[in-house]
Amino acid sequence: MSIETAAQAAYIVSALLFILALAGLSRHETAKSGNTFGMAGMAVALVATIALAIDRGITSTGLGLLAAAMVIGALIGLQRARSVEMTGMPELIAILHSFVGLAAVLVGWNGYLLVEHALNGPEAQLLDAQGTLGIHHAEVFIGVFIGAVTFTGSIVAYLKLSARISSSPLVLPGKNLINIGALLAFAVLTVRFVISPAMWMLVAVTIIALLLGWHLVASIGGGDMPVVVSMLNSYSGWAAAASGFLLENDLLIIVGALVGSSGAYLSYIMCKAMNRSFVSVIAGGFGIEAPSGEDKDYGDHREINAEGVAELLRNANSVIITPGYGMAVAQAQYGVAELTRKLRDAGVEVRFGIHPVAGRLPGHMNVLLAEAKVPYDIVMEMDEVNDDFSDTSVVLVIGANDTVNPAAAEEPSSPIAGMPVLHVWEAENVIVFKRSMASGYAGVQNPLFFKENSAMLFGDAKDRVEDILRAL
Ligand code: TAP
Repeated sequence: MSIETAAQAAYIVSALLFILALAGLSRHETAKSGNTFGMAGMAVALVATIALAIDRGITSTGLGLLAAAMVIGALIGLQRARSVEMTGMPELIAILHSFVGLAAVLVGWNGYLLVEHALNGPEAQLLDAQGTLGIHHAEVFIGVFIGAVTFTGSIVAYLKLSARISSSPLVLPGKNLINIGALLAFAVLTVRFVISPAMWMLVAVTIIALLLGWHLVASIGGGDMPVVVSMLNSYSGWAAAASGFLLENDLLIIVGALVGSSGAYLSYIMCKAMNRSFVSVIAGGFGIEAPSGEDKDYGDHREINAEGVAELLRNANSVIITPGYGMAVAQAQYGVAELTRKLRDAGVEVRFGIHPVAGRLPGHMNVLLAEAKVPYDIVMEMDEVNDDFSDTSVVLVIGANDTVNPAAAEEPSSPIAGMPVLHVWEAENVIVFKRSMASGYAGVQNPLFFKENSAMLFGDAKDRVEDILRAL
């Protein structure tokens, strides 16, 4: 068997491993094995690709560069993965997407320059005679476009998520026209480029796509960022697939398509969870027309201390805990798990209500609770508990804000109007754990804090949970 055939076989094995990885990652119980499949798939792919490069006569300089790139990349990857905080994960993902985008741009440009170079030779004439040159040019153009949009879009997402720039939306006059104009220009240029390619067109499409990526994500406000991150995930997959076509690498095409379609599906699920239109997300700049949250006077809030909460919990029949980003910041999940055990031992029914975008990335809360060994069967999704709040004695809102905001359900003019939320306010008592009266990620006031059955427990969520444990 030639190396070429062996490598193709290895690619199929690796593609299957990636599919198993995705299947595994879709459930808590199998997530770890999913990760293992993914790592195995990547290892097989790397070995096959290197063997293929050697077989095709890579120079020793090329091999040296490849080894250096792999060692440097692996070291940076290991260091980042070890040091990243769970709360910093979305930023990390965003910046990684930008690398995929940049790689696609470079591969595209390289593909163009290589063929241009060969155009003087017999190889190019052969390509042209077969009619494959036009396809090649389309691949270059589309790959560069998607890659460049992903590159700058992901950088803006990174800057917004890490609070290096403001998360409020940029509203340029005629922003939809700008986006449509850019897409039209891309379409026209693609046709021209396929017919008679010229360097200036590739330069133009690169610049247009870089600006478009920047504009698309800059015009999206804080509350909608989760959908943007998963959209960019999807774009990065398509960018990789485009590179796969250019490099004639089947595995890259398969993996790109897997990432592209799973990212698109995730975006669709998140759009549904946040009641946003999928099409307008793809078109960029959605949910921005809504008026910004004005500071309305909701009256006074009530405060409670840890002993008061312990008292309420002691007398409760049923408790629902709705965690949010603040639980992750405070690393309060271990205390929360301990509190859950204590209450369950005392015969109180305890469940968790998880909003689909609680925290800063999909599944954020589930991962934290699993880490603290909270049993899976009491961790419910929003839809599973939303009708039960009216029969609940105490709801503990631990570091969540936007996801429990009644304005989404009650105030049509709110920027988050229409986004499904956990109906915590229907419970008998609601305790809100946070450090101040500040607003959440979407920057919107929360009338929950001022409801008669709500009380604020101020301070770091971890410290407050420990105080309650002591009082119990
Ligand atoms: P947020 O609305 O961001 O609210 C978190 C709250 O936690 C804040 O109000 C903050 O109030 C409090 N907090 C922060 N640190 C704390 C600490 N150490 N102890 C106690 N409280 C603390 O969170 P959420 O309800 O989870 O909603 C998620 C938001 O993030 C949504 O707007 C969502 O769209 C967005 N988002 C989600 C994702 C995904 S995919 N899940 C990705 C990006 C963005 P204080 O400052 O007063 O303490």
